[in-house]
Amino acid sequence: EKSGYEYFMLKEIAEQPHAVAETLLGRLNEHGDLMLDEVRLTDQDLRDVDKVFIVACGTAYHSGMVAKYAIEHWTRIPCEVELASEFRYRDPVLDRSTLVVAISQSGETMDTLMALRHAKEQKARVLAICNTNGSTIPRESDAVLYTHAGPEIAVASTKAFLTQLVACYLVGLHLAQVRGVKYADEVAAVVAQLQEMPGKVEQVLDMMEPIRLLARELAEAKSVLFIGRHVSYPVALEGALKLKELAYMHAEGFAAGELKHGPIALIDHGTPVVCVVPSPRGRGVLHDKVVSNIQEVRARGARTIVIAEEGDTAVAPYADHLFYVPVTPTLLAPLVTTVPLQVLACEIASARGHDVDQPRNLAKSVTVE
Ligand code: F6R
Repeated sequence: EKSGYEYFMLKEIAEQPHAVAETLLGRLNEHGDLMLDEVRLTDQDLRDVDKVFIVACGTAYHSGMVAKYAIEHWTRIPCEVELASEFRYRDPVLDRSTLVVAISQSGETMDTLMALRHAKEQKARVLAICNTNGSTIPRESDAVLYTHAGPEIAVASTKAFLTQLVACYLVGLHLAQVRGVKYADEVAAVVAQLQEMPGKVEQVLDMMEPIRLLARELAEAKSVLFIGRHVSYPVALEGALKLKELAYMHAEGFAAGELKHGPIALIDHGTPVVCVVPSPRGRGVLHDKVVSNIQEVRARGARTIVIAEEGDTAVAPYADHLFYVPVTPTLLAPLVTTVPLQVLACEIASARGHDVDQPRNLAKSVTVE
C-alpha cells in the first residue's frame, strides 16, 4: 500500500503534483473561465457577498490564512480567517451576505462543524472545501468544492494542504470573476499560472536530497523557529506545526516582522531558524525586509536555513543552508515553499526514531470539541 515508500507520509508528499493537478482538473475551461459545478450558490448570491469568513483547524486553518491574502487582493472583499474552535464563542457578526468558507480534509472535525452550524443559524451562506465525499461538513453546507487529494492516511496533513490551497485560490478567482474586478488581467494570468503548479511541485520534490541530509543534522536540536511574511507567514506556521506533531520538538512560526517585538530573544548560538523568503520580483519590498530579518537573526547566532526563489542571490550571504524553489507568483508560492518543510519534519521525526504516520496523542480526525 505504501508503494515502496517507508511511510504513508512520504508517499503522500510525493503524490502532491498529482493531487494539485486533480484538484484543478475540469475547473478551468479553454477560455480560462472557472467552472465550479459543485458550487450551488448562484452568481447573484456571490455578487451579494460583502464579507468572507474562513473557519478551520490546524493545517486547514493555515490554508485559510493563505486564502485571506489571495481573496482580499483579487476580490477586494474583506476576508477574515478564524480558528473554528474560537469562532462561535465570540459572537461573530454574520448575516445573509456573509460567505463562510469551512475548510476540512476529513469533513468530520467537530470544531469546524460547530462553527459551520453557528454560521448557518445566523443565515450566512456556507461553502465547504473538503477532501471527503459525503462527509458531514459538505452535507451541511450550501455549496461544496471538493479537493481531489485522494485518501490521506498519514495523520499529518500534506497533500490535503496543497489541494486546500488550490481550492481556496479557485474560490478567490471565481468570486473575482463573477463580481467583475479591478484586477481582471491579473486574475487571467493567475488562472494560467495555476496550471503550471503541478510541474513546479514536481521540480521541488526532485531537489529534496539536501533537505534530508540537513534533517539528520537537526535531529538533536532543542527548538526550531520558522519565519516568513505575507503568505510565507502561514507557511512558517505550517512548517512548525509539522515539526511539533511529528518530531515532538519545540517549534514555532513567526511573522518575521514581529521578531523584534519579543521572539528574537529566543535566538541563541546555533538556534536553527527556517526562513521562507518571498520572491524578489513582484512585492520586492517584502523580500528586502525578510532579508534584513534574516541578517538580524544571524547576527544573534542563528543557524539560518533559507528557502528562496531560484535566482535570488541577495539572500545567499546570510544563508547557512540555502534551498531554492522554482520561480512562482507570490500568492501561489506556498504550493512550492511548504514542500521542503514537510520533508524536513518527516525526516527529522524519522531520524529521531518516531512513527511518522502515527504520532503520539493524535488522531486523523478529531470528532470531539
Ligand atoms: C496537521 C493536521 C491537523 C488537521 C486538523 C483539521 O497535520 O492534520 O492539524 O489539519 O485537525 O482537520 P480537518 O482538515 O480534517 O478538519
